[in-house]
Amino acid sequence: MATSPADVPATRADFTIDQDWDRYTAGEHGVWRALFHRQAELLKGRSTPEFLAGIEKLNIAADGIPDFRRLNDMLARATGWRIVAVPGLVPDDIFFDHLANRRFPSTCFIRKPEQMDYLQEPDVFHDVFGHVPLLVNPVFADYMQAYGRGGLKALGLGSLHRLARLYWYTVEFGLIRTADGLRIYGAGILSSKGESVYCLDDPQPNRIAFDLLRIMRTKYRIDDFQETYFVIDSFDQLFAATAPDFTPYYEELAATEDLEPGAVLPEDHVIHRGIARA
Ligand code: PHE
Ligand code: FE
Repeated sequence: MATSPADVPATRADFTIDQDWDRYTAGEHGVWRALFHRQAELLKGRSTPEFLAGIEKLNIAADGIPDFRRLNDMLARATGWRIVAVPGLVPDDIFFDHLANRRFPSTCFIRKPEQMDYLQEPDVFHDVFGHVPLLVNPVFADYMQAYGRGGLKALGLGSLHRLARLYWYTVEFGLIRTADGLRIYGAGILSSKGESVYCLDDPQPNRIAFDLLRIMRTKYRIDDFQETYFVIDSFDQLFAATAPDFTPYYEELAATEDLEPGAVLPEDHVIHRGIARA
């Protein structure tokens, strides 16, 4: 085990540790292999093509938990991002500072075999399989860095809860509309067996066209599948919509009420499953 709670190596001031890749056991690599095979199969025709392109470019494969040193060689050449190993969730300011400097904090421990279907905290499968492939995409790579800068600003403005919703409904649970229908790009879905099917196939959840202020008003669930997914048309749209200074948005939002996760407003643009065009 690289980082079981008992032997977490001392963290540095920026909370980074060493991945200690050589210490993974055959059993741990086996858990990765099983998760990888299962998601690769489930995500056929469900994940956005940019995700697959990233998986291929970085050679993320079934053989085992990737060595961050190897991934970083390729990632640095592609978009200047690199992965830094952390023991778990890190304080907000530390997290944003990493993103603002194109460093993606990734856990390195892997879930136990009995946690294959659900894990409450991020592990290396969620972080590396779910998040890292899109860092190869130049527009998404820029979005993540801009988010880090915006996070530092939101912290200072007391509006972090608003910005956190944007991360949740894009980076973690985002859907994207392609010519072939809806596809997944959110890491929380890509690394989840149940939700990668539910979010596209189940009639229950709302699928609503991306709307920045609407998202920043909407609470989210951390204990179950999402009640609402927000759908972007492209990473360019996401980047452009989030480029303006958010300070006036935060002021405006202070006068509005929060929305429940499952709320649908008359002005929402509800998107029907599998329909590619607006
Ligand atoms: N433009 C935002 C701001 O001024 C920062 C941001 C960029 C936030 C991209 C999220 C994503 O606060
Ligand atoms: Fe995540």
